[in-house]
Amino acid sequence: MASTQKPIGVALIGCGRVSDAHLGAITSQPEKGRLVAVVDRNPELARAAAERFGAEHACASIDQAMKIPEVEAAIICLPNHLHGEASIQCLNAGRHVLVEKPMADDYATTVAMGEAAEAAGKVLAVGQSRRHGSAIRYVQDHLESFGELRAIQASFCMYWDGPQAPWWAERTAKDGLVLSLLGSHTIDFVQMMLGKHPLRVHAEATRLRDCWSAEDEAMILIRYPQNKMATVHLSYNQQPFFERYHLLFDTSIVEVRDVNMVLVNNEVVHAPAEEATLLVTNELFKNQFAEFAAACHGLPNRSALHPHGIALMRVIDAALESSLANQTVAMRW
Ligand SMILES: NC(=O)c1ccc[n+]([C@@H]2O[C@H](COP(=O)([O-])OP(=O)(O)OC[C@H]3O[C@@H](n4cnc5c(N)ncnc54)[C@H](O)[C@@H]3O)[C@@H](O)[C@H]2O)c1
Repeated sequence: MASTQKPIGVALIGCGRVSDAHLGAITSQPEKGRLVAVVDRNPELARAAAERFGAEHACASIDQAMKIPEVEAAIICLPNHLHGEASIQCLNAGRHVLVEKPMADDYATTVAMGEAAEAAGKVLAVGQSRRHGSAIRYVQDHLESFGELRAIQASFCMYWDGPQAPWWAERTAKDGLVLSLLGSHTIDFVQMMLGKHPLRVHAEATRLRDCWSAEDEAMILIRYPQNKMATVHLSYNQQPFFERYHLLFDTSIVEVRDVNMVLVNNEVVHAPAEEATLLVTNELFKNQFAEFAAACHGLPNRSALHPHGIALMRVIDAALESSLANQTVAMRW
């Protein structure tokens, strides 16, 4: 089936840190995608990316890329506060969109993005890259066999020596830092396993270092229907890298380690295909692009589509609100 699909013509928008992972994912799967254009407001970055990955067009604006008829889809790798406007512009121009995580900076913007996707009849997927790791797929595919899931303990803790892009330093406590940037990955996992509609969210957040203005350490407690609960620990202060999801079933404990190893009751049942101690691994982005291409063709896929992304954003918003107000947020769906 996949081999008969026409490759999707893609414009990649924002040639910064994460862009090479997407560009590699497109160009290493020519049967799924064709890199038509790269866009950056910095023309040097666009030109260099076009040369490295063989894009036909290097553009300085989204407007310019939307005039190219071969562009059928946009992958948006801009700073978070630009995700909403850029996605809506591309959807209104009749393109499918894969927007980097977090989907936007607030729930209201994600709702407007979803409305634009539905009006255009196009795919809007969110780049929740970590859900595309082989371990998380393994757990999804075997979920029924582990028993009844009662609780999840999730930790995504790592160290950055300071802002990794200039816009990180500008994020305020209201915008969120670790809750938004890492929380989007970790809460995505919890929502995939426990459902989209939690009842209550409580978060505590703090800032341990002065190199940024927003929180760099957070703990979240999420209550789901049917007496299910999750805790999420997020940190930019932790060495070495520590990413673990413990799923507590009634008769077994499943552990996802570094996105690609699974242990059941301490026995390895799924081992990594490649070292996954880095934040960005090729496997995640390749799988993610393949799923997005399938979605664009109307085929079954594992993309984080906009209804999931909107619910996820609402939980991130609730965590931010809870941490700033020092109180639990009750969710109304
Ligand atoms: N999935 C992951 O694991 C992962 C990893 C890293 C980053 N991200 C996400 O990717 C997105 C980009 O992050 P980054 O670290 O690559 O940022 P970055 O700052 O390195 O790159 C952003 C690029 O966008 C360009 N840009 C800014 N405004 C523009 C505009 N109006 N028009 C055209 N170009 C513009 C900048 O020149 C820059 O090159 C963020 O949303 C981030 O959260 C995801």
